[in-house]
Amino acid sequence: MPGTDKNSGPFRISVNRDARSGLTEQIRSAITQAIGEGRLKPGARMPSCRDLAAQLGVARGTVRSAYDMLADSQLLEAKGAAGTFITQYPPITISNSVPSVALTPLPDIVCDYDTPPLTFQMGVPATDAFPASVWSRILQRHARSSATQPVCYPDPRGSLALRQELVAYLAMSRGVNCQAAQIIITNGYAGALGLVCLAMGFRDAQAWIEEPGYLLACKALGLVGIEPVPIAVDEQGIRVSEGIQRAPAASFALVTAGQQSPLGMALSPERRSELLAWAQENHRWIIEDDYLGELQLSSRAAPALASRDSAGRVIHIGTFSKTLSPALRLGFVVVPLALAARFGDIAAAMAPASGAVSHNAVAEFLREGHFLRHLRRMKRLYAERMEKMMQALQPHFPQLRRGGLAVIVQLPAGIADRIIAREALAWGMAPSPLSAWFQRDELRQYGLILGVTNMPGDGFEQCAQKLRQLVDAHLPVVTSPGSD
Ligand SMILES: Cc1ncc(COP(=O)(O)O)c(C=O)c1O
Repeated sequence: MPGTDKNSGPFRISVNRDARSGLTEQIRSAITQAIGEGRLKPGARMPSCRDLAAQLGVARGTVRSAYDMLADSQLLEAKGAAGTFITQYPPITISNSVPSVALTPLPDIVCDYDTPPLTFQMGVPATDAFPASVWSRILQRHARSSATQPVCYPDPRGSLALRQELVAYLAMSRGVNCQAAQIIITNGYAGALGLVCLAMGFRDAQAWIEEPGYLLACKALGLVGIEPVPIAVDEQGIRVSEGIQRAPAASFALVTAGQQSPLGMALSPERRSELLAWAQENHRWIIEDDYLGELQLSSRAAPALASRDSAGRVIHIGTFSKTLSPALRLGFVVVPLALAARFGDIAAAMAPASGAVSHNAVAEFLREGHFLRHLRRMKRLYAERMEKMMQALQPHFPQLRRGGLAVIVQLPAGIADRIIAREALAWGMAPSPLSAWFQRDELRQYGLILGVTNMPGDGFEQCAQKLRQLVDAHLPVVTSPGSD
């Protein structure tokens, strides 16, 4: 009988031959659970494999395999002829009976991890247009070849092949002139921003952020002890003069110069000059979030701000999250030459790039022309979807504007756009509430930001209609004079 020693208390297990998990796994998990719940105490002697096998009606080898697995995870200890014992200091086991804490990081900002995109969800490329077959062929080849390479530490800045391809790609498509030594591959934009904060030692600094602007970046700065100071954007992008006035001592400005997030305008040439002059004359930094890269739907994409940086003040961040897939978690940072050694050291010591398989696969994807072809197709597809969405929304919403890869439905001031967005989830739609992108009440605008990339099979019409109903339910009731 398992656990019959005086200090182990009553303990019984049984097995179910019809269960989906195998007999060994059932025995292993029952014993693990009993230890976790304290029904089997440290030091207690387990029954022999023969006894437990007889009791459960299973083969002796089945019990032995379960005991071996438990010994591997340091829950049991075999002491030769003396028998098998629960270890004196078993590692903490996770018991099903212990309620788990809600573990979703940043629940107020992130919609859901690991779930397929909903209609209108921003920030995810078209699932139906991902070049799955060519990508999987390339990825498989690199996975296979990496398995037969010598086991060694890779370059902490990421694969040289990808960094070299990026040098050529950035020169051609973003006007950025750099060397591979200035590029570090990161875990997306978020990973790049973390690396920049770490390497630049910005703690306790102030930073200009755009208002409205990308919430996750604002949150990120706060998390590492940087004070984000919201600076309004107008039709020319961030208002540099307001930044100088509100936070003259800011260490850096974080800007989406190519296409402002979420409104979509490019930073005008005048503002670019003003911003670069501010950074240059005051020895400040500009972090350029080039998250959409050249994915500009209506015309040729504006060049990166880094292309005009002659003084080495712009740290440029790119990502493959919009152009390929956020599941890759691949991005890159291009640093001024004078910072390249420091960034390399920091990457090597505490923030190395991820394994090189996906880097090398993306490098080949770029080299063979698949990436540019894919981008061309995406631009065409998204432009079509944008038009379809505009047509579906127009009868229901008079005030629409285009912004990056989204359409913005403008709504009356004060409307509960956050609640509407939450209610829309139940209908398979994930609009983003415009008001949440603002920090200051006096600037706050209201509306719904609708991503165009993923279109439901039956088009946008029904969703547009449903959205209108949800909005109507939140509009203030207008009473005519004398109606009471
Ligand atoms: C403004 C902005 N920057 C960057 C990103 C990309 O972040 P990542 O590369 O970490 O996926 C996004 C994604 O939605 C974004 O909206």
